[in-house]
Amino acid sequence: MSSVERAYYVTTPIYYINGNPHVGHVYTTIVADALARTARTFRPAFFLTGTDEHGQKVANAAAAAGMSPQVWTDELVPRWQELFKLYHCSYDDFIRTTQARHVEKVQRVFEQLHARGDVYLGKYEGWYCVHEETFWLESKLVDGRCPTCGREVQWISEDDWFFRLSAYRERLIEHYQRNPTWVQPRSVYNEMMALLRDGLEDLSISRATFDWGVPIPRHGGVIYVWLDALLNYITAIGWSEDDALFNTYWPASTQLIGKDIARFHAIIWPAILWALGEAAPDLIFAHGWITVEGQKMSKSVGNVADPFALAQRFGADSVRYFLLREAAFGSDFSYSEEKISARYTSDLANDLGNLLQRTLAMVQRYFGGTIPAAPAESDLEHRFGGLAVKVRAELLELRFRDALESIWDLVATLNRRIDERKPWVLQKEGRRDELGSLLYDCCEGLRRLAILLHPVMPERTAEMWRQLGKPGLIDEDWSTSFAGWGRIAAGTRVSPGSSLFPKIA
Ligand code: MSP
Repeated sequence: MSSVERAYYVTTPIYYINGNPHVGHVYTTIVADALARTARTFRPAFFLTGTDEHGQKVANAAAAAGMSPQVWTDELVPRWQELFKLYHCSYDDFIRTTQARHVEKVQRVFEQLHARGDVYLGKYEGWYCVHEETFWLESKLVDGRCPTCGREVQWISEDDWFFRLSAYRERLIEHYQRNPTWVQPRSVYNEMMALLRDGLEDLSISRATFDWGVPIPRHGGVIYVWLDALLNYITAIGWSEDDALFNTYWPASTQLIGKDIARFHAIIWPAILWALGEAAPDLIFAHGWITVEGQKMSKSVGNVADPFALAQRFGADSVRYFLLREAAFGSDFSYSEEKISARYTSDLANDLGNLLQRTLAMVQRYFGGTIPAAPAESDLEHRFGGLAVKVRAELLELRFRDALESIWDLVATLNRRIDERKPWVLQKEGRRDELGSLLYDCCEGLRRLAILLHPVMPERTAEMWRQLGKPGLIDEDWSTSFAGWGRIAAGTRVSPGSSLFPKIA
């Protein structure tokens, strides 16, 4: 099978359980969900998310709350799962790095690397940033602080296991040259190439003086939290030669990350995979920051937005829409409730919600609530016949803003048609055929809109579908669903209901 037809596997980073989730966390998970839902319309797809529960950062957060790390993570994980459900994230699996299925396989990885001579025992003497869970060479520090987050670093001197990362430098450079789009966007690809050209140090992959992690069998110490965490992408799908899930889904199609963790995913991760005899993922996509007044949204800056409160105010689907529509995926973009509110009012309530409401009201008023006969021919077929193919490609290429703009072309066209052809005048003048054709086209257009928007707004589009009289399956194969204008059956009884996007207090 070519990689185009292959089963689709999408992952998010696994989130540190050191506090409550914020909008930045739900963002990546929503993106992964939109991709998984799109892929599922034409091929098998698997969507993985989860939590990164080991390491000093989580242990410190638990200690500060006066709890053991296990009790702390057990208490917090449901909050994350509840949030992802609230945002309709249809993950196929949620991995926790404290689960036995993961721990056992991480230990197996260590054994395998050890057996192959890819690890060796050495002395780590250097700096460590707990917030980034990262080892730093003295030469990389900025004013004696962590170059990524600016926090204080601590001195570590311990006997650790090292992974021969440096031995993979040539192969990494070659992989980058042969696959110029495997790390996106281009700015991150270039940044990674510069790091590779700079040279690679071997990586310490254990901690000897700290114990909240996966224990290393026979030797003692625990696995470095980043190695432990990266492995989730394969342990969750049952990493082993004879596992059907693993064979179906590895290598991953799209691994979504924030740009802060590109080095781990685009340099360390492929090297580890190669050491295990596995292939690197097809695509690592590092997205930008959600910012507030120019600063990255983060707990430590104290500028986080509560995603639970946002869903309550705007509805989860409207927030999903905003996050995918506001900026080209990959760039930073600034967040504010005013911005969500503006999109909500213009795009969602005035354009889409109003189109559904007035179309169904007129079907009710002029045709007794059943969809009138289809026109013999519709010029919309010509103009929008290729829309599904276009939108699917845009979504899978992570061009969410472009996809939504393409979809809104249909929304705008239908609204304009109603405004220009004035159905109330057609009714008054007894031009019933023209009136029926116009309303039919609007219903068919809305059917298409519900399907195309389903990956982005799964719940609101299900409501559109219900009001349209449930014409088939909303997430059926797009290729059959869009084969020819006119698939919504004349005579379908619509059931207009409450406004899709009601006024916000
Ligand atoms: N646990 C590691 C990842 C291990 S993956 C093998 C980690 N966790 S994290 O919770 O600190 O951050 C995870 C991800 O949250 C980031 O990569 C990014 O996807 C997302 N974001 C956190 N803050 C964000 C913004 N302000 N904006 C956009 N995404 C943000 O790093």
